[in-house]
Amino acid sequence: MGRVSPFFLVLLSLGFFFATYNLLTLVIQYKNSSSGNGLELSDSIANMPHEVKRLGKSNLRYHVGLTATDTPYSQWQCRIMYYWYKKMKDMPGSDMGKFTRILHSGKADNLMDEIPTFVVDPLPEGLDRSILEEISPTWVNISLRMKDDHETDKAFGWVLEMYAYAVASALHGVRHILRKDFMIQPPWDLEVGKRFIIHYTYGCDYNLKGELTYGKIGEWRFDKRSYLSGPPPKNLSLPPPGVPESVVRLVKMVNEATANIPGWESINSS
Ligand SMILES: *[C@@H]1O[C@H](CO)[C@@H](O)[C@H](O)[C@H]1NC(C)=O
Ligand SMILES: *[C@@H]1O[C@H](CO)[C@@H](O)[C@H](O)[C@H]1NC(C)=O
Repeated sequence: MGRVSPFFLVLLSLGFFFATYNLLTLVIQYKNSSSGNGLELSDSIANMPHEVKRLGKSNLRYHVGLTATDTPYSQWQCRIMYYWYKKMKDMPGSDMGKFTRILHSGKADNLMDEIPTFVVDPLPEGLDRSILEEISPTWVNISLRMKDDHETDKAFGWVLEMYAYAVASALHGVRHILRKDFMIQPPWDLEVGKRFIIHYTYGCDYNLKGELTYGKIGEWRFDKRSYLSGPPPKNLSLPPPGVPESVVRLVKMVNEATANIPGWESINSS
Protein backbone atom coordinates (compact mmCIF):
# COMPACT_ATOMS: atom_id res chain seq x y z
CA MET A 1 0.00 0.00 0.00
CA GLY A 2 2.43 2.63 -1.21
CA ARG A 3 0.86 5.85 -0.14
CA VAL A 4 0.56 6.30 3.49
CA SER A 5 0.83 10.05 3.51
CA PRO A 6 2.78 11.65 6.28
CA PHE A 7 3.89 9.20 8.80
CA PHE A 8 1.74 9.39 11.86
CA LEU A 9 1.98 7.90 15.24
CA VAL A 10 -0.86 7.45 17.61
CA LEU A 11 -0.28 6.23 21.06
CA LEU A 12 -2.13 3.08 21.64
CA SER A 13 -2.58 1.48 24.92
CA LEU A 14 -3.90 -1.94 25.61
CA GLY A 15 -4.89 -2.62 29.14
CA PHE A 16 -3.56 -5.30 31.35
CA PHE A 17 -6.17 -7.97 30.85
CA PHE A 18 -9.64 -7.96 29.36
CA ALA A 19 -11.05 -6.49 32.54
CA THR A 20 -8.95 -3.41 32.02
CA TYR A 21 -9.03 -3.34 28.26
CA ASN A 22 -10.28 0.18 28.46
CA LEU A 23 -8.18 1.90 25.93
CA LEU A 24 -8.22 0.40 22.57
CA THR A 25 -7.58 2.80 19.81
CA LEU A 26 -9.38 1.62 16.75
CA VAL A 27 -8.90 2.82 13.29
CA ILE A 28 -12.29 2.61 11.70
CA GLN A 29 -12.09 2.50 7.97
CA TYR A 30 -14.78 4.18 6.03
CA LYS A 31 -16.15 1.69 3.60
CA ASN A 32 -17.65 2.69 0.32
CA SER A 33 -21.03 1.06 0.30
CA SER A 34 -21.52 1.58 -3.44
CA SER A 35 -18.65 -0.75 -4.24
CA GLY A 36 -20.11 -4.05 -5.34
CA ASN A 37 -17.08 -6.17 -6.11
CA GLY A 38 -17.11 -8.89 -3.50
CA LEU A 39 -13.92 -9.70 -1.75
CA GLU A 40 -12.86 -13.26 -2.07
CA LEU A 41 -10.94 -13.91 1.05
CA SER A 42 -9.85 -17.47 1.39
CA ASP A 43 -7.54 -16.99 4.30
CA SER A 44 -7.83 -15.62 7.80
CA ILE A 45 -5.21 -13.08 6.83
CA ALA A 46 -6.79 -10.75 4.32
CA ASN A 47 -5.45 -8.05 2.07
CA MET A 48 -6.44 -4.46 2.43
CA PRO A 49 -9.82 -4.28 0.69
CA HIS A 50 -9.82 -2.42 -2.63
CA GLU A 51 -12.38 0.11 -1.55
CA VAL A 52 -10.24 1.09 1.41
CA LYS A 53 -7.23 1.49 -0.87
CA ARG A 54 -9.20 3.69 -3.22
CA LEU A 55 -10.19 5.94 -0.36
CA GLY A 56 -6.51 6.75 -0.03
CA LYS A 57 -7.40 9.91 -1.92
CA SER A 58 -9.85 10.98 0.72
CA ASN A 59 -8.61 12.97 3.65
CA LEU A 60 -11.16 11.41 5.95
CA ARG A 61 -9.83 7.95 5.76
CA TYR A 62 -9.60 7.19 9.44
CA HIS A 63 -11.99 7.85 12.26
CA VAL A 64 -10.25 7.25 15.54
CA GLY A 65 -12.40 5.62 18.20
CA LEU A 66 -11.07 5.38 21.71
CA THR A 67 -12.92 3.39 24.33
CA ALA A 68 -12.51 4.89 27.76
CA THR A 69 -13.65 5.04 31.34
CA ASP A 70 -13.72 7.99 33.71
CA THR A 71 -10.84 6.75 35.87
CA PRO A 72 -7.78 8.99 36.16
CA TYR A 73 -5.72 6.23 34.52
CA SER A 74 -7.96 6.25 31.47
CA GLN A 75 -8.33 10.03 31.41
CA TRP A 76 -4.67 11.00 31.30
CA GLN A 77 -4.02 8.55 28.50
CA CYS A 78 -7.01 9.84 26.51
CA ARG A 79 -5.74 13.39 26.85
CA ILE A 80 -2.33 12.42 25.51
CA MET A 81 -3.81 10.41 22.67
CA TYR A 82 -6.11 13.26 21.66
CA TYR A 83 -3.18 15.67 21.68
CA TRP A 84 -1.30 13.44 19.23
CA TYR A 85 -4.36 12.87 17.10
CA LYS A 86 -4.78 16.63 16.69
CA LYS A 87 -1.13 17.10 15.88
CA MET A 88 -1.21 14.40 13.20
CA LYS A 89 -4.48 15.70 11.80
CA ASP A 90 -2.95 19.14 11.30
CA MET A 91 -0.11 17.79 9.19
CA PRO A 92 -0.35 18.49 5.47
CA GLY A 93 -2.02 15.63 3.60
CA SER A 94 -3.15 13.96 6.80
CA ASP A 95 -5.58 11.04 6.48
CA MET A 96 -7.08 11.62 9.88
CA GLY A 97 -10.85 12.04 10.06
CA LYS A 98 -12.66 12.61 13.31
CA PHE A 99 -11.95 11.44 16.81
CA THR A 100 -14.47 10.00 19.24
CA ARG A 101 -13.87 8.99 22.80
CA ILE A 102 -16.42 6.31 23.64
CA LEU A 103 -16.98 6.77 27.33
CA HIS A 104 -18.57 3.58 28.58
CA SER A 105 -19.07 4.57 32.19
CA GLY A 106 -22.58 5.80 31.36
CA LYS A 107 -22.18 9.41 32.43
CA ALA A 108 -20.37 12.56 31.38
CA ASP A 109 -17.04 13.33 33.00
CA ASN A 110 -14.77 16.36 33.31
CA LEU A 111 -13.18 15.92 29.86
CA MET A 112 -16.36 16.48 27.83
CA ASP A 113 -15.25 19.97 26.74
CA GLU A 114 -11.72 18.89 25.91
CA ILE A 115 -12.26 15.70 23.89
CA PRO A 116 -15.13 14.83 21.50
CA THR A 117 -16.97 12.21 23.50
CA PHE A 118 -19.91 9.89 23.12
CA VAL A 119 -21.29 8.51 26.37
CA VAL A 120 -22.59 4.94 26.34
CA ASP A 121 -24.05 2.80 29.07
CA PRO A 122 -21.90 -0.02 30.33
CA LEU A 123 -23.03 -3.41 29.04
CA PRO A 124 -25.09 -5.42 31.54
CA GLU A 125 -23.09 -8.00 33.42
CA GLY A 126 -22.29 -10.98 31.22
CA LEU A 127 -23.59 -9.56 27.95
CA ASP A 128 -20.22 -8.29 26.83
CA ARG A 129 -19.06 -11.85 26.45
CA SER A 130 -21.63 -12.99 23.93
CA ILE A 131 -19.58 -12.33 20.79
CA LEU A 132 -16.82 -14.42 22.26
CA GLU A 133 -19.03 -17.38 23.04
CA GLU A 134 -18.25 -19.25 19.86
CA ILE A 135 -14.51 -18.77 19.98
CA SER A 136 -13.90 -19.02 23.70
CA PRO A 137 -13.93 -22.84 24.12
CA THR A 138 -11.24 -23.11 21.44
CA TRP A 139 -9.45 -20.17 22.96
CA VAL A 140 -9.35 -21.92 26.34
CA ASN A 141 -8.01 -25.11 24.79
CA ILE A 142 -5.37 -23.36 22.74
CA SER A 143 -4.30 -21.32 25.76
CA LEU A 144 -3.92 -24.45 27.87
CA ARG A 145 -1.94 -26.21 25.17
CA MET A 146 0.35 -23.25 24.78
CA LYS A 147 0.71 -22.96 28.55
CA ASP A 148 1.55 -26.67 28.86
CA ASP A 149 4.28 -26.41 26.28
CA HIS A 150 7.30 -25.19 28.19
CA GLU A 151 8.98 -23.50 25.26
CA THR A 152 5.81 -21.72 24.13
CA ASP A 153 4.99 -20.66 27.67
CA LYS A 154 8.44 -19.16 28.08
CA ALA A 155 8.34 -17.38 24.75
CA PHE A 156 4.96 -15.69 25.29
CA GLY A 157 4.91 -15.10 29.04
CA TRP A 158 1.98 -13.09 30.39
CA VAL A 159 0.63 -12.23 26.94
CA LEU A 160 0.18 -15.91 26.05
CA GLU A 161 -3.62 -15.78 26.10
CA MET A 162 -3.62 -12.86 23.69
CA TYR A 163 -1.67 -14.87 21.15
CA ALA A 164 -3.87 -17.87 21.87
CA TYR A 165 -6.81 -15.68 20.94
CA ALA A 166 -5.21 -14.94 17.58
CA VAL A 167 -4.75 -18.67 16.93
CA ALA A 168 -8.28 -19.53 18.07
CA SER A 169 -9.90 -16.81 15.97
CA ALA A 170 -7.96 -17.98 12.91
CA LEU A 171 -9.26 -21.50 13.52
CA HIS A 172 -12.77 -20.05 13.49
CA GLY A 173 -12.19 -18.25 10.21
CA VAL A 174 -12.13 -14.73 11.62
CA ARG A 175 -10.34 -12.62 9.05
CA HIS A 176 -7.81 -9.97 9.87
CA ILE A 177 -5.85 -7.55 7.77
CA LEU A 178 -2.25 -8.13 8.71
CA ARG A 179 0.06 -5.17 8.55
CA LYS A 180 3.44 -6.02 9.89
CA ASP A 181 4.36 -2.35 9.96
CA PHE A 182 1.33 -1.47 12.06
CA MET A 183 2.91 -0.89 15.45
CA ILE A 184 5.93 -1.17 17.65
CA GLN A 185 5.98 -2.45 21.20
CA PRO A 186 8.68 -0.89 23.32
CA PRO A 187 10.93 -2.13 24.80
CA TRP A 188 11.00 -5.15 22.46
CA ASP A 189 10.93 -3.28 19.17
CA LEU A 190 13.96 -1.06 19.17
CA GLU A 191 13.46 1.28 16.25
CA VAL A 192 10.50 3.45 15.35
CA GLY A 193 10.81 3.29 11.57
CA LYS A 194 7.70 4.02 9.55
CA ARG A 195 5.20 2.58 12.01
CA PHE A 196 1.79 3.93 12.84
CA ILE A 197 1.30 3.14 16.47
CA ILE A 198 3.23 2.76 19.68
CA HIS A 199 1.67 0.06 21.82
CA TYR A 200 3.02 0.87 25.26
CA THR A 201 1.79 -1.94 27.44
CA TYR A 202 5.14 -3.27 28.61
CA GLY A 203 7.06 -1.65 31.41
CA CYS A 204 10.39 -0.23 30.25
CA ASP A 205 13.08 -0.84 32.87
CA TYR A 206 16.76 -0.04 32.34
CA ASN A 207 19.87 0.34 34.43
CA LEU A 208 21.96 3.48 34.05
CA LYS A 209 24.17 1.73 31.52
CA GLY A 210 21.12 1.57 29.27
CA GLU A 211 20.67 -2.19 29.66
CA LEU A 212 17.17 -3.64 29.77
CA THR A 213 16.29 -5.18 33.13
CA TYR A 214 12.83 -6.40 32.07
CA GLY A 215 10.82 -7.81 34.98
CA LYS A 216 13.03 -6.06 37.51
CA ILE A 217 12.43 -2.44 38.49
CA GLY A 218 15.06 -0.43 36.68
CA GLU A 219 17.08 2.53 37.89
CA TRP A 220 15.30 4.30 35.06
CA ARG A 221 11.79 3.22 34.18
CA PHE A 222 8.62 4.14 32.37
CA ASP A 223 5.53 2.07 33.01
CA LYS A 224 2.05 3.46 32.46
CA ARG A 225 0.84 1.41 35.42
CA SER A 226 2.92 3.59 37.71
CA TYR A 227 0.15 6.14 37.13
CA LEU A 228 -3.04 4.26 37.94
CA SER A 229 -4.42 6.87 40.30
CA GLY A 230 -3.29 10.06 38.62
CA PRO A 231 -1.38 11.49 35.68
CA PRO A 232 2.37 11.27 35.26
CA PRO A 233 4.16 14.52 36.12
CA LYS A 234 5.31 16.80 33.32
CA ASN A 235 8.85 16.42 32.02
CA LEU A 236 9.59 12.80 32.89
CA SER A 237 13.32 12.13 32.88
CA LEU A 238 14.58 10.78 29.59
CA PRO A 239 16.21 7.35 29.57
CA PRO A 240 19.97 7.01 30.00
CA PRO A 241 22.16 6.76 26.89
CA GLY A 242 21.99 3.40 25.14
CA VAL A 243 18.24 2.92 25.56
CA PRO A 244 16.51 2.12 22.26
CA GLU A 245 14.93 4.80 20.13
CA SER A 246 11.44 3.33 20.58
CA VAL A 247 11.52 3.93 24.35
CA VAL A 248 13.02 7.40 23.99
CA ARG A 249 10.32 8.34 21.48
CA LEU A 250 7.56 7.11 23.76
CA VAL A 251 8.73 9.20 26.71
CA LYS A 252 9.32 12.24 24.51
CA MET A 253 5.81 11.95 23.14
CA VAL A 254 4.35 11.79 26.63
CA ASN A 255 6.43 14.79 27.67
CA GLU A 256 5.49 16.84 24.65
CA ALA A 257 1.81 16.22 25.28
CA THR A 258 1.91 16.96 29.00
CA ALA A 259 3.89 20.17 28.36
CA ASN A 260 1.25 21.41 25.91
CA ILE A 261 -2.08 20.26 27.31
CA PRO A 262 -3.58 23.16 29.28
CA GLY A 263 -4.21 22.38 32.91
CA TRP A 264 -2.43 19.04 32.85
CA GLU A 265 -2.14 18.68 36.60
CA SER A 266 -5.30 20.53 37.58
CA ILE A 267 -7.90 18.50 35.67
CA ASN A 268 -6.56 15.11 36.50
CA SER A 269 -5.81 15.68 40.14
CA SER A 270 -9.49 15.67 41.09
C1 LIG B 1 -11.26 -28.70 24.27
O1 LIG B 1 -10.51 -29.76 24.82
C2 LIG B 1 -11.32 -30.77 25.40
C3 LIG B 1 -10.40 -31.76 26.08
O2 LIG B 1 -9.37 -32.16 25.22
C4 LIG B 1 -12.22 -31.40 24.33
O3 LIG B 1 -13.04 -32.38 24.91
C5 LIG B 1 -13.07 -30.31 23.69
O4 LIG B 1 -13.83 -30.85 22.63
C6 LIG B 1 -12.19 -29.19 23.19
N1 LIG B 1 -13.05 -28.13 22.73
C7 LIG B 1 -12.80 -27.43 21.63
C8 LIG B 1 -13.82 -26.40 21.26
O5 LIG B 1 -11.80 -27.56 20.96
C1 LIG C 1 13.02 18.94 32.27
O1 LIG C 1 13.89 18.25 33.13
C2 LIG C 1 15.27 18.41 32.84
C3 LIG C 1 16.06 17.54 33.79
O2 LIG C 1 15.62 16.21 33.74
C4 LIG C 1 15.66 19.87 32.94
O3 LIG C 1 17.00 20.01 32.55
C5 LIG C 1 14.75 20.68 32.03
O4 LIG C 1 15.02 22.05 32.20
C6 LIG C 1 13.29 20.42 32.32
N1 LIG C 1 12.47 21.11 31.35
C7 LIG C 1 11.38 21.78 31.68
C8 LIG C 1 10.64 22.42 30.56
O5 LIG C 1 10.99 21.87 32.83
